[in-house]
Amino acid sequence: MKRLHTRPIQSQSDLVAHFDAAAQTYQEAHGPAARLLAYRLALVRRCYHVSSEAVLLEIGCGTGIHLIALADEFARAIGTDISEAMIQAATAVARQSPVKERIDLRVDAADELWTIADASIDVVLCVGAFEHMLHKARVLRQVYRVLKPDGVFVCLTPNGDYWWYTSVAPRLRLAVKHLSTDHFVTLKEMSDFLRDAEFTVRRHEYWRFIPKGDMPSWVGWMLEVADRLGQYGGLSWLRGGLVVVATKGRKT
Ligand SMILES: C[S@@+](CC[C@H](N)C(=O)[O-])C[C@H]1O[C@@H](n2cnc3c(N)ncnc32)[C@H](O)[C@@H]1O
Repeated sequence: MKRLHTRPIQSQSDLVAHFDAAAQTYQEAHGPAARLLAYRLALVRRCYHVSSEAVLLEIGCGTGIHLIALADEFARAIGTDISEAMIQAATAVARQSPVKERIDLRVDAADELWTIADASIDVVLCVGAFEHMLHKARVLRQVYRVLKPDGVFVCLTPNGDYWWYTSVAPRLRLAVKHLSTDHFVTLKEMSDFLRDAEFTVRRHEYWRFIPKGDMPSWVGWMLEVADRLGQYGGLSWLRGGLVVVATKGRKT
């Protein structure tokens, strides 16, 4: 039976060491990689309408799978990550891209973004990384700073209200966190974080995220059926993923 073991993290440098070590063998752990990537990219593309002159920034880009796939739809695609080994892995993949001249990868923590100028970005994307970021309020302040007026922040992250996290896993005494510092935000928490950083939350939805690699396979299948019920019955606690779309500036 698959069992997740949570790694203790005391500081940001422990977190960097974890992702540096994971970078070389990093791969999709929760199902068929190509199908899941296509599904997430379709979700992301629905979240903004921008011209081909626009600039994309992905924070916590890891090996760059989303950034590199989206790069030909933007004038520039910048990926940042706190892990140098992740950026090296992404750079190796980006070299094979037909639009490699548009892709720019940098080691830069999302709570600093010191390589990114104020008001220079049209879309900031964060996929499967916000839950790992230690300083969430600081991250959102930096995202706000680098976005142009009316720029869009799109975040795909696990849903903190998901019954797997709140009920099922605790009853089965199964761990749900890869890192002790992982935190899965609820819609309410995420909305509060965003409002505190002066964002306007434009919309949210739930997406099919089932961390199958972290659980026994029979539980994965049960959660898959439950996800369908949640989707068609509007039961957000049965949905594993949260998408939030926010724009820079208060609602007028
Ligand atoms: C699970 S991986 C996801 C990578 C990529 N977004 C994807 O979907 O394949 C999480 C990434 O977030 C990065 N990360 C964690 N905390 C970060 C921070 N504060 N600033 C920038 N990147 C961070 C990690 O180094 C890692 O590459």
